[in-house]
Amino acid sequence: MARLKVGVLISGRGSNLQALLDACADPAFPAEIALVISNVADASGLERAEKAGVPTVVINHKDFSGREAFDAKLDEALRAHGIELVCLAGFMRLLTDGFVEGWRGKMINIHPSLLPSFKGLHTHRQALAAGVKLHGCTVHYVTPALDDGPIIAQGAVPVLEGDTEGTLAGRVLAVEHQIYPLALKIIAGVKATGSTPGATLINPTV
Ligand code: GRF
Repeated sequence: MARLKVGVLISGRGSNLQALLDACADPAFPAEIALVISNVADASGLERAEKAGVPTVVINHKDFSGREAFDAKLDEALRAHGIELVCLAGFMRLLTDGFVEGWRGKMINIHPSLLPSFKGLHTHRQALAAGVKLHGCTVHYVTPALDDGPIIAQGAVPVLEGDTEGTLAGRVLAVEHQIYPLALKIIAGVKATGSTPGATLINPTV
């Protein structure tokens, strides 16, 4: 079975990258991480990739005159490595519409809220301020609009009395690490078999 070649874009600690690396360590998993790109040279996620024997590239956005030039370099690196699917995993740069269109249907992201609620930054702060009792995370296809695009999988957690941004973030992150590999498995499996996915996954831990 040919495994789907995945490129992961990171900017920081890379705990979601680690979850994907761990899933792909199983030879029966239908995808492999073939490249990790960081826009930050000292992102600790790079060490995780190196430990797993995955090639890494640093493309520092500060070295480019603008977003188009930076995105063109990303695109070049991804295509040079034969990447078939891009996973954004804590990648903290806005991508140009041109780049997003070029990877339409082939780029997914994990966002720490139950979309369409709480787009953008500080999602746990937003959830606490709104007083929701259920929060979580979403894996979705990337489209030009921020944190929009078809939903592939969601995981839910309760918001508990006395929660802080930190405690809530930790509870959500544990579920992120479950649903990102699950979403990748669905996409890679669909590509391998040509079948269409079933229902969107809900993973309530309440
Ligand atoms: C995660 O919370 C993810 O949902 C968001 O950025 C964070 C990245 O964390 N997009 P990590 O680098 O994967 O640990």
